Amino acid sequence: MMKKLNLMLAALAVSAGMSAQTHTFDVNTTKVGGAIPKTMYGIFFEDINYAADGGLYAELVMNRSFEFPNHYAGWSISGQVSLKNDGPFNKNPHYVRMAPSGHAHKHTMIENSGFFGIGVKQGAEYQFSVWARCPEGGSSKLWIDLVDNATMGDDQKIGNAGVEISGKEWKKYTARIKANKTNAKAHLRVWGDSKVTTDVEHVSLFPVDVYRGDENGMRKDLAEALEQMHPGVFRFPGGCIVEGTDLASRYQWKNSVGPVENRPLNENRWHYTFTHRYFPDYYQSYGLGFYEYFRLSEQIGAEPLPVLSVGLSCQYQNEIKDEEHVHVPLDQLQPYIDDCIDLIEFANGDPATNQWAKLRADMGHPEPFNLKYLGVGNEQWDYKDNPAFTKRLKIFVEAIRKVHPEIKLIGTTGPDSEGENFDRLQPRMKELGCDLYDEHFYRNEEWFLKSGNRYDNYDRSKKAPKVFAGEYACHGRGKKWNHFNAALMEAAFMTDLERNADVVEMATYAPLFAHVEGWQWRPDAIWYDNLRSFNSCSYYVQQLYSMNKGTNMLTLTMNGKPVAGNDDQDGLFASAVLDKNTNEVIVKVINTGDKAQDVTLNLKGMKGSHEAQLISMHSDNLTAENTLDEPNKIVPQTSSVTVSAPSQSVTVPARTFYIYKIKK
Ligand code: AHR
Repeated sequence: MMKKLNLMLAALAVSAGMSAQTHTFDVNTTKVGGAIPKTMYGIFFEDINYAADGGLYAELVMNRSFEFPNHYAGWSISGQVSLKNDGPFNKNPHYVRMAPSGHAHKHTMIENSGFFGIGVKQGAEYQFSVWARCPEGGSSKLWIDLVDNATMGDDQKIGNAGVEISGKEWKKYTARIKANKTNAKAHLRVWGDSKVTTDVEHVSLFPVDVYRGDENGMRKDLAEALEQMHPGVFRFPGGCIVEGTDLASRYQWKNSVGPVENRPLNENRWHYTFTHRYFPDYYQSYGLGFYEYFRLSEQIGAEPLPVLSVGLSCQYQNEIKDEEHVHVPLDQLQPYIDDCIDLIEFANGDPATNQWAKLRADMGHPEPFNLKYLGVGNEQWDYKDNPAFTKRLKIFVEAIRKVHPEIKLIGTTGPDSEGENFDRLQPRMKELGCDLYDEHFYRNEEWFLKSGNRYDNYDRSKKAPKVFAGEYACHGRGKKWNHFNAALMEAAFMTDLERNADVVEMATYAPLFAHVEGWQWRPDAIWYDNLRSFNSCSYYVQQLYSMNKGTNMLTLTMNGKPVAGNDDQDGLFASAVLDKNTNEVIVKVINTGDKAQDVTLNLKGMKGSHEAQLISMHSDNLTAENTLDEPNKIVPQTSSVTVSAPSQSVTVPARTFYIYKIKK
């Protein structure tokens, strides 16, 4: 009879959305485990989705040096405009000549439409600059207008300035323009006074209010969003763009440093990689280059982690049969190895003795950037009969180690989270003596739910490399992308990273940025248009882990096993850390199921009542997401609670991410 009653009660609880049983979590707060690496949660930047030009890099003019293959891409011209190619910057030789029309009222004009328009805000100031000269001598006036050219009324002009150009020598001219109206799609119009021929090169417009007021600076809201993630590591500049579609289009860091006017344009493979999202005007200006990446790493407090080419162009796009034609032959790797060694010097070297270190100092940073990590190769792999990747990596590792044994070298296990390539590469990373290897996984919900124990049995021997989960995101099934459920899956999986922080040294969600009009790949952490931005649910999960990573691991078990969404664990995931600095025990619990779960939290080693904070992320709607119009639809909520020790009952609602921060 009693048994029947119990069964009936359990059935009632389940139908009311309640758990049928109470789970017991045991956290041993006295047995302090290994340190959580400071690098543990970081960010991965790639110029995809207009993340650099048109995104983080605050330049508002597209094709400012007239170097796109279509030299007038982004520009409309009227009057006597012609293209020249003997300009003052040898790597960007093109410029335009604006000649008088012969009639005082026929103005010569060039107009730039920016990246999906130019976003300007009422009352904000914009810094215009141009290199110019009057090739036939004399002086001329250039008028600079910000225009709302969707408005054909009297108020088309929403800000203007003028610059006097004089003499035959190229000089840089600047002016400030204040916008009298907000417009996400303004244009920049430059027109002459129609009297004297004027040559114009590197036409640039930045908001005055950029992140930290830097020269050649970053868009403020986007850089601040990065800073607020508190990332421990910053991987750049990609991804596939490191490799290029072919060797010629790979990212070449040496072209990305020195004066911005003379950084040559590079193709951006994301302009054509996905033909359903084709962006013919997507190039890399390198305005956001390696100096700026290092500077930003320092400003946001993250360890810089550059990745360079291993002499293989993207293996997805290049048949290995053709190896010597599409990849670098083994005896010709030296320039690529030099790129690695020179980069270490650029970041850390002595300006008095090294040319690359001197360049860093000349650019404004005499002190070293303290580079500690270097990635060699992105998603590369070996073939059964041809170790295309590792035979090259070996040469790199040996050469770099000889000169810079202090740098931690990062290999890769390729694009797959498991399978033949992965299994082949993982042991090779150890044999080659890599310090870490980079794993990637863009996977669906089921994969994330099943991977809660991924790192429990990884090689913990002394010589085993550490893991860098360098690109991952839950690519949920269905039509929505950055929805709450994807973020919840990531939060659940991250308990595994935390529990295995002795094996996993760093992890970076990917990709980071996307322009709402220019994306090629989604989901992404941060979205924006020309004026606004918002953080996805996944962003907040990353931020919560980063800000609550603690200093040391603690064990958290249920019936002696980690709580990792296993069959008998009702969709629960959990981990615990200690923060020695704040003297807090931090417990993360994720209920991925559709029923609330009752949990008894046993805090071994603690007694009495403890002040605590409860941070929660929850949505009743699994496919709900933040948007430009509703940026704060799903954000973490914080409340104060009291936790009794050694035992506290907790109900974790369905589909919820909870963090308890308990003062010890
Ligand atoms: O993040 C987008 C792409 O995904 C990266 O460029 C590449 O490394 C991976 O395939």
